[in-house]
Amino acid sequence: MRKHIVAGNWKMNMTFSEADDLLNDLMEKLEKEELPRDVQVIVCPPFPYLEMASDYANDSYFAVGAQNVSDQEKGAYTGEVSAAMLESCELDYCIVGHSERRGYYHETNALVAAKVDRLLMHNIRPIVCVGEVLAERESGQQLDVVRKQVEEGLFHLTAEQMKNIIIAYEPVWAIGTGKTATTEQAQEMHAHIRSLLTAKYGKELADEISILYGGSCKPTNAKELFACPDVDGGLIGGASLKADDFMGIIKAFI
Ligand code: PGA
Repeated sequence: MRKHIVAGNWKMNMTFSEADDLLNDLMEKLEKEELPRDVQVIVCPPFPYLEMASDYANDSYFAVGAQNVSDQEKGAYTGEVSAAMLESCELDYCIVGHSERRGYYHETNALVAAKVDRLLMHNIRPIVCVGEVLAERESGQQLDVVRKQVEEGLFHLTAEQMKNIIIAYEPVWAIGTGKTATTEQAQEMHAHIRSLLTAKYGKELADEISILYGGSCKPTNAKELFACPDVDGGLIGGASLKADDFMGIIKAFI
């Protein structure tokens, strides 16, 4: 059975001491709960706090991921962080192709594919984000846009590599806007993504891939979104910055 995953994407938020407080708070809350074995919590703070988060994670019930990685292996790439570095810090996950990176930093599907390759080479599981912008949904192109992102970002992988991928569907119009996709919209897209995976890799493998929903996911809507048959958890932005809210979302699985 595929894993249920709740991943917190802190984005570019928190000072060192705020990060420390949030991690401490989250750890205390997680300690009080009995998480089902098939639920994985992941925290993705900014690079400077990864080590601190890993120290907390060692004593607790969550894993740590980065928010971005270089497509290059090593060398003269000022400001970049490599997959080898993340591996040497014992990180397990990394977000790739978030719409903010695609939008503000012009990341293409080809670049996303290169980053995915780098991560897999270094035993880090990519959380690959896909999703359409509002104009694309309004003109009915959302299924095609996401198909292209999935095909160009991931379909060069072997079946063995594909097993390590987590996909996050994040409609861009729902990110940080308070506008959530309806359960019908989320389920339709998640089923679409799984059918693409089935056609390319077969049903058995497609059924093992966790597909997360992201975009204004909150404690008040998580349960109904996660109840959709093809929604296997969430990638949480704003609500991951408050331990109570993040925990409220995790509790949708308890
Ligand atoms: P949001 O962000 O939960 O603040 O909408 C989700 C994301 O961008 O991963």
